[in-house]
Amino acid sequence: MNLDGSDPAPNRSRTREGTKLKPKVYVTREIPEAGLKLLRENCDVEVWAEHLPPPYEVLREKVAECEGLLSLLTDHIDAAVMDGAPGLKVIANYAVGYDNIDVEAATARGIRVGNTPGVLTEATADFAFCLMCAAARRVVDAAVYARAGNWLTWEPRGHLGRDLWGATIGIIGMGRIGYAMAYRAHRGFDMRVLYHDVRENEHADRDLAARRVDLDTLLAESDFVSIHTDLNPSTQGLFGAEEFAKMKRSAVLINSARGPIVQTEALYEALRDGEIWAAAMDVTDPEPLPADHPLYSMPNCVIAPHIASGTYTSRDRMAVMAAENVLAGLRGEKLPTQVNPEVE
Ligand code: DGY
Repeated sequence: MNLDGSDPAPNRSRTREGTKLKPKVYVTREIPEAGLKLLRENCDVEVWAEHLPPPYEVLREKVAECEGLLSLLTDHIDAAVMDGAPGLKVIANYAVGYDNIDVEAATARGIRVGNTPGVLTEATADFAFCLMCAAARRVVDAAVYARAGNWLTWEPRGHLGRDLWGATIGIIGMGRIGYAMAYRAHRGFDMRVLYHDVRENEHADRDLAARRVDLDTLLAESDFVSIHTDLNPSTQGLFGAEEFAKMKRSAVLINSARGPIVQTEALYEALRDGEIWAAAMDVTDPEPLPADHPLYSMPNCVIAPHIASGTYTSRDRMAVMAAENVLAGLRGEKLPTQVNPEVE
């Protein structure tokens, strides 16, 4: 049934005796309890409890009878998934990014799509900043060195890194997270902020003395380049051999946005050949990066398993926000954070 009491899919929503059933919702992984609880109070919830995501065919089968879907960035939600679920009203992604969902297809079918903006901004920027520090000061490389028993004396030339204080940071995509990263850099480390974005960000210009520049200027002048844009046709593969060649040889690249924005092979070659000095990646292409990938062998590359939003608070808030999106969609209402407002 609809949460407003109307009943657009009678076969699924009522028993033969006419008792009203709760709407069915499929959750593709065990998200924090705060979100699951909210859903269970209002819906008939099935959760995929495995460590790995449900295989595509399983996902299609599970969603077929559902009115709501709470998906993760690891789920590929395309038109076929939607067509196999005629009662589907809402897809709530447990992420701010939603490149895993064919939003156009959802809009064409009148399905609302939601994401989780805002609640993970600070956690993600914190982690992007951690990655930047880790790469600049060779934290991982040095820790591995010490743990392996190689620390025999204080070394005047050992593990030298790059200064953060007063450096120039180039932000690719000055949205919420880009701004939060720039804020940390400017206010905390006195960094000069450049950014590349299709839009001017007046807050950044005013509060952080940031300057919007073309990509080539940003690449040429930045000591640190941090990626915070979404993945779309114009940002897919944005960083390749040509871009690395335009960066300082002392530069550090940080990516906490989406893996495919950086061409993996070109990054490996740039690190290997000293085109850039170091990189720190929370996201990769492919993702996960296979265990035998040569990028792992590079001491000047820090790789984390896509954990930038991973604090208890942030993940709890994401779970609640995604659950609230599902519930609004089931009631036939606009979602609190709907990415396809065309679906009225
Ligand atoms: C997102 O939200 O898009 C992140 O990649 C995961 O939290």
